[in-house]
Amino acid sequence: EKGGYDHFMLKEIHEQPKAIIDTYRGRMLPNEGLIKMSGIDDNLNKFLNANRIIIIACGTSWHAGLVGEYLLEDMARIPVEVEYASEFRYRNPIITPNDVVIAISQSGETADTLAAIKLAKSKGAFVFGICNVVGSSIARETHAGAYTHAGPEIGVASTKAFTTQITVLTLISLKLAKAKGTMSDSAFRMYLQKMQLIPAKIEGLLKIDEKVKEIAAVYKDAKNCLYLGRGFNFPVALEGALKLKEISYIHAEGYPAAEMKHGPIALIDENMPIFVIATNKGHYEKVVSNIQEIKSRSGKIIAIVTEGDVQVREIADHVIEIPETEEALTPLLTTIPFQLLSYHVAVMLGKNVDQPRNLAKSVTVE
Ligand code: F6R
Repeated sequence: EKGGYDHFMLKEIHEQPKAIIDTYRGRMLPNEGLIKMSGIDDNLNKFLNANRIIIIACGTSWHAGLVGEYLLEDMARIPVEVEYASEFRYRNPIITPNDVVIAISQSGETADTLAAIKLAKSKGAFVFGICNVVGSSIARETHAGAYTHAGPEIGVASTKAFTTQITVLTLISLKLAKAKGTMSDSAFRMYLQKMQLIPAKIEGLLKIDEKVKEIAAVYKDAKNCLYLGRGFNFPVALEGALKLKEISYIHAEGYPAAEMKHGPIALIDENMPIFVIATNKGHYEKVVSNIQEIKSRSGKIIAIVTEGDVQVREIADHVIEIPETEEALTPLLTTIPFQLLSYHVAVMLGKNVDQPRNLAKSVTVE
């Protein structure tokens, strides 16, 4: 049942190219220059006339929501707020019938997310669900939605759910951008072409497993780690840190790279591994100077860079290359090495990868 893999998590990491294809199949039509999603098509005016979009979710799904914020604002120019469902539901939020709420949940059973949806509905908002489990409570409670089609996710640490959630959010953002005219037709078509190349690029990245394993072996005994990224890859830094925490029990924190100088830089010494995403179009020069600040304090740098990078390679202790793509699509690639890294560290430390302590696959209590 694990398809020849030692753990469900590793199997699910490797399923991502197929899961992403399953998610966009029949929806994304690059030759016709079209994205078809009935849940959006049937409610297009609600999205186009929305004052703002509020995304609610927990954990990894919340991280996907943050990527969604960057995508929707950048492409479709709609204001977006991303909220932890547990905070949203208890803070007397301002919600109006002109708000569109997007709830994201792999299981479709997360109690806080479900309660937040009910609250938003009671205030008249239109609620759109992005769920993986078909027929789940959240899928039933929302007005419309789009399934991720990732297939069953059994490992407690979410992997393919995250990348397929981002895939759905990318399709929605592109579709709304086209409908609103905030993106040219040529840019839209270019994105569809680039999106279609992502699964093969992930396939290629999965082959660097041995290199990630070597890095895991060097840093597996670290007590603390930092994950840094900017822009579209800031949420990927948060997700990288969460993956390490939950299955390796190593304390890790994700930060926007520029926030480091406002506090966390005090933590840096020669024992601190710092994972930095430095893709070539993502505020590259700024990230390079963040890396230099870390290096001058003796921190160890493991950088995720774009193929062919020279500048970061000179300063970093280790580099992992991802293939070139549009910056907005890089989270689908940069997240892969982080998933593999946490997996290998957890295995090397002898932890129960698929069933980490204190965690449940679906959190049906608040
Ligand atoms: C992390 C993880 C959790 C879930 C969170 C939300 O790997 O699995 O953080 O992402 O509990 O779960 P869903 O998406 O089912 O609502």
